[in-house]
Amino acid sequence: MYNLVVFASGNGSTLQAIIDSINNGKLKASINLVVSDNPDAFALERAKKHNIPTYIIQSSDFNSRDLELSNILSNYQIDLVVLAGYLKMIGPKLLEKYTIINTHPSLLPKFGGKGMHGMHVHEAVISAKEKISGATIHFVNQEYDKGTIISQTKVEVLPTDNAESLSAKVQAAEKIQLIDVLNQFVNNKIH
Ligand code: GAR
Repeated sequence: MYNLVVFASGNGSTLQAIIDSINNGKLKASINLVVSDNPDAFALERAKKHNIPTYIIQSSDFNSRDLELSNILSNYQIDLVVLAGYLKMIGPKLLEKYTIINTHPSLLPKFGGKGMHGMHVHEAVISAKEKISGATIHFVNQEYDKGTIISQTKVEVLPTDNAESLSAKVQAAEKIQLIDVLNQFVNNKIH
């Protein structure tokens, strides 16, 4: 079995897409733990509903969070860590031990970096009058949204789009893309 750990800070619709793909046989993997920095993240409810263990990070500073996570994750079988709407920076201990990927709701390197997450990204794309946006899945390194790109998917930005409608389109495309990428990891096609 291919072993995943998913990190999420908010709603967790991306986590849900992974859970659903596993449950309907489209992804041969198991989620062994869901980690959140936000005790109120709906992602935690989604995990509990599916009997997936959850862990809420206690530490507030970067280095102790890295140490705490490194200790907790060492109790689990892990082939891949997936950041699915997780907003904190990943520290060196985790980067050294695990392969970590992130989903980002824009065509990186555009609209990435600190503070660029979720709806902020879509608002910036609309303000910049971009004609195309999309989602990027990339390896995580020590800089926000700068790791090697694994895959990008594009969506058209229509003149009638606002941040909400763009977000809905990007999120739908991003989920399909993520399951495809995860299948490539499971089938040993990405290293
Ligand atoms: C996703 O669109 C993901 O790309 C984005 O947050 C959303 C999470 O939604 N991630 C970032 O912006 C990271 N910089 P969810 O909580 O419903 O899964």
